[in-house]
Amino acid sequence: MAVDLLLGLQWGDEGKGKIVDVLTKNYDIIARFQGGPNAGHTLEFDGIKHVLHTIPSGIFHDNAINIVGNGVVIDPVIFKKELDNLKKFNLDIKSKLFISRKAHLILPTHRLLDAASEAAKGKAKIGSTLKGIGPTYMDKTGRNGMRVGDLELDNWQDKYRALANKHEGMIDYYDVDLQYDLKDLEAEFYKGVEELKKLDFIDSEEYLFQEQRKGKKILAEGAQGSLLDIDFGTYPYVTSSNTTAAGACTGLGVAPNQIGKVFGIFKAYATRVGSGPFPTELFDEDGETMGRVGNEFGATTGRPRRCGWLDIVALKYAVQINGVTDLMMMKGDVLSGFKTLKICTAYNYKGKEITHLPFNIEPENVTPIYTEVKGWDEDLTQMSSNGQLPETLNAYINFLEKELEVPIKIVSVGPDRTQTIHR
Ligand code: GDP
Ligand code: IMO
Ligand code: MG
Repeated sequence: MAVDLLLGLQWGDEGKGKIVDVLTKNYDIIARFQGGPNAGHTLEFDGIKHVLHTIPSGIFHDNAINIVGNGVVIDPVIFKKELDNLKKFNLDIKSKLFISRKAHLILPTHRLLDAASEAAKGKAKIGSTLKGIGPTYMDKTGRNGMRVGDLELDNWQDKYRALANKHEGMIDYYDVDLQYDLKDLEAEFYKGVEELKKLDFIDSEEYLFQEQRKGKKILAEGAQGSLLDIDFGTYPYVTSSNTTAAGACTGLGVAPNQIGKVFGIFKAYATRVGSGPFPTELFDEDGETMGRVGNEFGATTGRPRRCGWLDIVALKYAVQINGVTDLMMMKGDVLSGFKTLKICTAYNYKGKEITHLPFNIEPENVTPIYTEVKGWDEDLTQMSSNGQLPETLNAYINFLEKELEVPIKIVSVGPDRTQTIHR
C-alpha cells in the first residue's frame, strides 16, 4: 500500500488541515513530515473551530493513529498548550499520537534567536512566525540539535544547558534590544518536556515501514506551502524545511518509490503572510474583499494575510515539483460576487513573456499577465454536489485543469468539514 501525500501549493494556509480531517476516514495513519508550530491548521466541524500547530490533523478521528515525524521540529511549550486545548474533547491521545525520536526540539533560546535575527534584519526581515523554526533547523543541519530521543537520556538536561548557553552567546552577538527572562522560559520548557514525555516516543520510520507492510493506509500531512520551500520557494523569504513532496521522504523515512497519490491544495485566489515577493498581490478593493470575506488572518500569528489573484505560473511550478496527481481547490465561495476574475497565466519578465517561475520574482522584474474570466454570484456555501456548482465556476475549474493538466478532485465551499464537494 503506497503512502499518499497532501501538501500546500502556494504560500501556506491553503486549507490543509481541513482536507486532512476530511480524508482521515480513508486512512489508518496520518503523519506530519516537516515544519513545526509555525503551522496553523484549522479544522471545523460540529460548530467548533480547532487550530493545530504540531499535532496532525487526523487527531479527531477514532480510526487513525497520528505521527509527528522525524522531519518536524517540536516546541514542548506549544505542544503542551495544544494538548491542553484538546483535553475537553476526551480523545485518547496517548493511544493515538506517537512522536518520532528523531524529531528535533525547539528550545526557548531558538525562539529568542529567531527574534534577534529578525530584529537585526530590520526592513529585510523574513516575517517569521518567531517560533524558532529557522534556528532549530540550523542546529539540525549544523549537527548541534537536541532530539526527542535525547529526552530519554539521564543527562538530557546537561545537553540542554550546553546548547542554551551557546545560544545565549549568539543572542548577544546580534546586539539587538531583546527583553527576556530565560529562567521563566526554561521553567515553561521543562513543564512542556514533562508533558511530552507522557507520550510514546517511537522510531517512526520503522513503525511506518511495518504498518505499511501490513497494508495500512498512510497519509503524509505537509505544512506551509511549496513557495515557502527552503530550496524551491521564494528564498530567502521561505521557511527552513522542504515543504515539497521530497520532504515527506526525508521527513518520515518513506522511500520515493512508496509514494502514491500526491494531493496538491490551493486556494481559488492567492494569499501570503510575512515578507517576500508576491507577483499577483492586490492593494485595491478586490484584495481587501478577499481578505475580509475569506477571513484571511494567520491561524498562528493573527497577522492579516496579503491577498491576490490566482497565479498559474507559480501553481504550475508547484504541481511540477511535487508531481501532483490530484488537485483540491479551496475557498471558491470567497470569490462569489466578483463580476470578473483574473488569472495570471504568464509573466512579463524583464520585457519578455515567460510561463515558468524565474530565479527572481521581485516586482521590479516581474509583471503578471492576466486572463480575465467571468465570476459567479451564487452563494456556494450550501452546495453539496458537483451538479449544483454554477456554470462560470465550472468554467474556472475547467480552465485551471487544462492549464495545470491535473484534475481538480475536491472543491471546498466553506470551512466546515461538510462543505466539501468531491468531483
Ligand atoms: P492550513 O494551514 O493549510 O491548514 O490552512 P489554515 O487553517 O491556516 O487557513 C485556511 C483557512 O480557511 C481556515 O480558517 C479554514 O477554516 C478556512 N477554510 C478552509 N477551506 C475553506 C473554504 O473552502 N472556504 C472558506 N470560506 N474557508 C475555508
Ligand atoms: P501552514 O502550515 C503560512 C511563513 C511566515 C514567514 C515565513 C518564514 O499553516 O500553512 P518561519 O516561522 O517558518 O520562520 O516563517 O514562512 N510561514 C507560513 N505562512 N502558513 C504557514 O504554515 C507558515 N509557516 C511559516 O509567515 O513568511
Ligand atoms: Mg495555516
